[in-house]
Amino acid sequence: MQADRSGKVRVGACRFLGLPATQEWGKNSPNKCAQGGLKRRAAMWTAPAERSGDGALALLWRDRQAKASRAALAAAVHIAAYGACAELRPHASRNTLDIPVSKPQLGEAFQTLLPMSFLSLIETKRDGRELPPDAIAGFVREFTEGRVPDYQMAALLMAILFRGMSAAETRALTLAMRDSGEVLAFPNDPRPIVDKHSTGGVGDKVSLPLAPLLACLGFRVPMISGRGLGITGGTLDKLESIPGLTTALGPKRLVEQVQRLGVAMGGQTEKMIPADKKLYALRDVTGTVPSIPLITASILSKKLAEGLQALVMDVKFGRAAFMQTESDARALADSIVSLAEACGVRTQALLTDMNTPRGRAVGNWLEVKEAVECLEGRGPDDLRELVSECAARLLVLAARPRDLAEARSAAAACLASGAPRRKWDELIAAQGADLAAFRSRLALDHTAPVVVELTAPHAGFLSRCDARIIGEVVRDLGGGRLTQETVLNPAVGIDQLAKPGEHIKAGAVLCRIHATTASAAEAARARLTSAFELTDSRPEAKPLLA
Ligand code: URA
Repeated sequence: MQADRSGKVRVGACRFLGLPATQEWGKNSPNKCAQGGLKRRAAMWTAPAERSGDGALALLWRDRQAKASRAALAAAVHIAAYGACAELRPHASRNTLDIPVSKPQLGEAFQTLLPMSFLSLIETKRDGRELPPDAIAGFVREFTEGRVPDYQMAALLMAILFRGMSAAETRALTLAMRDSGEVLAFPNDPRPIVDKHSTGGVGDKVSLPLAPLLACLGFRVPMISGRGLGITGGTLDKLESIPGLTTALGPKRLVEQVQRLGVAMGGQTEKMIPADKKLYALRDVTGTVPSIPLITASILSKKLAEGLQALVMDVKFGRAAFMQTESDARALADSIVSLAEACGVRTQALLTDMNTPRGRAVGNWLEVKEAVECLEGRGPDDLRELVSECAARLLVLAARPRDLAEARSAAAACLASGAPRRKWDELIAAQGADLAAFRSRLALDHTAPVVVELTAPHAGFLSRCDARIIGEVVRDLGGGRLTQETVLNPAVGIDQLAKPGEHIKAGAVLCRIHATTASAAEAARARLTSAFELTDSRPEAKPLLA
C-alpha cells in the first residue's frame, strides 16, 4: 500500500499481501471471479458487504461512508488485494483502486494483516515463485519503516539467496531501495557525474585515491559507499579512521560539496537509501551477502540515488570475493551492467582477481595510509594500476577521450601530478577531518599497541597470499564485524604483505600484524602461516584484470 500526503491509498499496491487461495475462486473464470469471488470474500469479512453484494469497489466506498471499523477496513484491504491478484491482471482498471482513508486507520488495519502477509511472501520465494513488483516495493517500504521484524526479513533474504530473482524482480527491488529515501539532484553543469563501486574485497582501497583523482580529471563524484561486509572492507569504515571525519552527509551537504570540490564521500543515511542501510547490516550477519540480485540491488540503489551519468564497476572474483568463480563474477557484472544501462547510466565492469589482497595493507587505518601513498606516487603497483584503469574507463564512458590507451595515459599523468593528493586534503577537511591530527597519524609507523612480524621459514617464490585467511584474521583482530553491534578498531590489521611472484629470503618478512594485545597478535600469526606458500620456481604471473 502506498499512502500519499493527502492520505489517498493505492490499494492496487497491496497485491503484496499475497493472500492464499486466489485460485479457489478465480481459476477458470476471471470475470466471474472478479464479481462473485469478491462478493463472497466480502461476505466472509464484513456485514456491510454481505448486505451490499456490490463487490469490492462498492464495499470500499460504502465503508468509507460508514467510517469503517477497523475490521471492515482490514477486509477492504484484503479484498482489494484479491482484486489485484495475478489472475485478474487483464482487468487493469480493477488492479488499482484509490481509496481515501487516513494513514492511522490504514496503519492499524495493516498491522493486523502484516504477519500473515509477509509470511506468504517468504513462502512464495521459498517455493521459487516470482514476487510481483508491488509486493517487492511493499516489503522494502514496510521493512525500512520498521514494520517487519528482522527474523522475517532474514528468512526472505535467505529465500532470495537460494531461489534468486528474475531481472524484473531485481529491477523492482533496486528501484524500491533507491526510492526509500531522497535522490540527489544536481544543478546543470558540464562536469559529468560519475562513480566507481566495488563488489567488495580484502585490502581494496581503490575508491580512496580514485575519488579525488576523478575530481581532478573534471568529473563530479558523489561517492556513496558501504561499510565492511563479511570479510571485505568498507570505504566508510576506512574513511572514519581519519580523525574527525564524518561520512554522514545529508543529500544537501553532499550536493553542495560535490558542486564546490568535485567530490564527496558519504554513506547511506536515514535520508538516502535507508533501505540499503538496514538490509546491508542484516545481510552482513545472516550469511545472505553472496546473492547476485541482492548485491545488484544494494549497489545500484546507491548508485542510482546519486543521479549518475557513468559508472565503473570493479567486480571481484576469487577466494575472498562474494563471487568465488570468474563465471559467477561475470554473471554479477552482467546483472549490474544491464540494469544500470537500462536505468540510463553508462556502465562498464572490470573483473579483478581477489585471491590475493589488493596492495600490501589490510585494515582500516593501514589502508588509508596506503591510499595516501598511492596519491603521492608511491605504494604498490597493483593499486596504482587499478586506480588509473578505473579512471580511464570513466574517461572513455564520458568520451573524454574515446580511446582507452589515451585515457590511461591521461589518468596516470593526473595521478602523478600531485593534484589528486591536494584534492584529498580538501576533501577530508570538508568532511570534518582534523588535518593536523591526520598528518601526525600518517607519520607514525603504527597506531596499534602491538606489532609483530611473520617471517618466511625458508627462501622461495611466494606462490600464494590467501586473501580469505587474511580477511578473516583482520576481521577477528577487530577490523571487521561479526555482529551488527561490533565496534571496529581502526588501528588493527596487516601490512608489509609480500606479493605473489616475489622472491623471499629465509627469515624475511611475509607480513606484519597490528593488534591490540600480544595474545591476539600471536593467535593471528599462527593462523597466518597457512595463508602463505613458498615454491622453488616462480609462479606464473596473474593479470590484474580478467
Ligand atoms: N557492495 C555493496 O554496496 N553491496 C553489496 O551487497 C555488496 C557489495
